[in-house]
Amino acid sequence: MGKILGIQIKNYGSLKDVKMGKLLFDKREKELSNMNAVIGQSGTGKSTLADAFGFLADCLDKGVEVACDLNGRGGFEKIISQNAEDPIYFEIYYRETSNESPITYELSIGMKEGRPIVEKERLRQRRKGQPYGGPMSFLYLEYGKGFAFKGVSGGYDEENNEEVGEKIEVQLVDARQLGIVTLGELREHPRIVKFKNFLKNWYLCYFSPSAAREIPNAGPQKYLNRLGNNVNNVAQYFYREDPKTFLKVLQSIQTKLPGIEEIKPVKLVNGQLVLEFLEKGFKEPFYSQKMSDGTLKLFAYYLLLHARDARPLIFIEEPENGLYHKYLADLAVQMKESIKGTYSKQLFITTHSPFFVNALSPDEVWVLEKDETGFSSLKRASEYDFVQDLCESEIGLGDLWYSDYFG
Ligand SMILES: Nc1ncnc2c1ncn2[C@@H]1O[C@H](COP(=O)(O)OP(=O)(O)OP(=O)(O)O)[C@@H](O)[C@H]1O
Ligand SMILES: [Mg+2]
Repeated sequence: MGKILGIQIKNYGSLKDVKMGKLLFDKREKELSNMNAVIGQSGTGKSTLADAFGFLADCLDKGVEVACDLNGRGGFEKIISQNAEDPIYFEIYYRETSNESPITYELSIGMKEGRPIVEKERLRQRRKGQPYGGPMSFLYLEYGKGFAFKGVSGGYDEENNEEVGEKIEVQLVDARQLGIVTLGELREHPRIVKFKNFLKNWYLCYFSPSAAREIPNAGPQKYLNRLGNNVNNVAQYFYREDPKTFLKVLQSIQTKLPGIEEIKPVKLVNGQLVLEFLEKGFKEPFYSQKMSDGTLKLFAYYLLLHARDARPLIFIEEPENGLYHKYLADLAVQMKESIKGTYSKQLFITTHSPFFVNALSPDEVWVLEKDETGFSSLKRASEYDFVQDLCESEIGLGDLWYSDYFG
């Protein structure tokens, strides 16, 4: 559960200082929607933004030193913004459910003795019912040393130098690991546990149709992995746990793929599962190994969106790649439909497709541009002159973008 109301990123590649949505001290900014699409010309930082989310997830999973080298990042010196004097910094403003106060997570990553290290990590929350009061830190670590507060409320109010609740001293053995990983395993820190679990379940999609064609060995798996090469296993899990929804998903995809009459999960004698695609004009079915890139991609997206315990945050880069342009508006509508009004699913998308953007509203679209310093700037499509008004008069947002009204 949970969603991001806002995020700030500093000194991560071309993202020298960008903000999306509402942060702790922003009184007027709007919170992020459940659907957030990022557009912009090549080189403006869309993939960098997607990678910043991936980097955070990797920091949690593997520690900051390893995360700097993973996924072709090339090490701390390559990912930190050129000429940056300050550390890489992330701030996430997050809310677990609609009736809980938002939590702010801050993370600064710098270098010490030639190695990436967590310089500072902090979790803060305002007292319940005090939307503007001084926030209270319930985790505060500098170079792995500091304090945490147990329980569902309390902390240290810096402004008033006041402590509420039970405080414990913390010293991590390894300052390259995040404190939320260690403390997020302890029952007496429920707020940290929830936040860590939220972060841990993010899904950063690097879907590769060729990987998805592999025949799975293991049995059912709950979640799609980053490459999507366990799509058959996830289908198997979905089918076992919730056959009714699964068949509904299949039917919904069937209607979107020309020529496909039926998709059926079939169990082989050795227990493996493959998908049978029955095509008009052919007596024998085709199996998922033989299906087109676009079909497999759509299938994976639909599984992601409709799974019962869907990931709380899904980041997909350029979902339009390999898909017929007329599927895109429908895919965007389906995505919006599946995440509407929930606190349990939030989507971040980068796209170059006006067809996809046509299905979105100006508050759901963010525009990246390079400013005069060469770094990225980010703003909502609704902040451009006329865009909101023209959209209200029923001109598609993608059409406005294509006609250079913004972006
Ligand atoms: N350490 C760094 N400091 C500052 N800028 C950097 C750094 N590393 C890379 N860049 C710049 O960041 C940009 C990265 O662009 P990115 O790949 O995120 O673009 P994109 O919007 O995804 O483009 P495309 O549409 O082509 O996929 C490039 O312009 C590159 O010059
Ligand atoms: Mg890119």
